[in-house]
Amino acid sequence: MLFDWKQALLPYEQVVDELLVKFKGIMREFQVAGNISPIENVTGRVKSVASIIEKTNRRNIPLDKALDVLEDIAGVRIICRFVDDIYEVINLIKKRDGIDMDIIQEEDYIKNTKTSGYKSYHITINYPIFIQGEHKKFKCEIQIRTLAMNFWATIEHSLRYKFDKTVPNEIRDRLKVCAEAAFQLDMEMDKIKYELMETKSLMENKEEIINRIIHNIHILYNNSNIENKNEYNHQFIELYQENNLDKLREFNTELETLLQEIGEN
Ligand code: GTP
Ligand code: MG
Repeated sequence: MLFDWKQALLPYEQVVDELLVKFKGIMREFQVAGNISPIENVTGRVKSVASIIEKTNRRNIPLDKALDVLEDIAGVRIICRFVDDIYEVINLIKKRDGIDMDIIQEEDYIKNTKTSGYKSYHITINYPIFIQGEHKKFKCEIQIRTLAMNFWATIEHSLRYKFDKTVPNEIRDRLKVCAEAAFQLDMEMDKIKYELMETKSLMENKEEIINRIIHNIHILYNNSNIENKNEYNHQFIELYQENNLDKLREFNTELETLLQEIGEN
């Protein structure tokens, strides 16, 4: 009897569909909370029968063992903007380990880059579904990578197919250089993100100090025992225009000491 691939691959379709719902759910949770999701995009696919046959041949696996042995018949790909986000996604997945999925293998090709230049983080899971009247677990390979890593892997993969997988050495080397360039882009983007975040926290700090100063001057104004109230106002305006955070801090300390002295703080 001819093997019914359509029937055999049905559970894997279910696994991919359910996982897509879950990862899209994570994206939505971040969006609703007003936060940026570490997941930029998520896609999934079930390996084609042709690819399954090709991989079993390449690996010398008897075809009837393919479903048990191959870990990527079901595959989910998570794309992140930053390298940091990859590790955030990994943590999100690890939190679910033993709850709605079991992690069975992890491969960090970001730290251990493949000789081709390939970078990605792979997590193989066992995922339980209820199908054909039974509760069973099926393997799924989750690939987590940045947009830049995906850019490289997508093009490299298509070129390798065009060359029938025997890419000339010279081209192989150049592709590797491209992979390194893509990673440089990731590193630079990470750096820019951190520098922007630092500026932002500095800004928040400045806003806080200014609010404190305004609050303190307000208390001073309401205290009739203080003379030259306007002096503080003028001083604040000058320092505000000067935009020197250290001087603003110093001025605020001065105001707080004064308020303490007159028993208002
Ligand atoms: P293959 O799937 O046949 O590579 O064997 P494997 O499961 O032992 O390899 P691995 O877990 O390292 O990689 C599984 C998947 O990662 C592949 O199916 C590809 O999607 C991807 N991958 C691995 N290496 C490369 C590479 O050099 N280039 C590209 N474009 N993708 C790769
Ligand atoms: Mg693998």
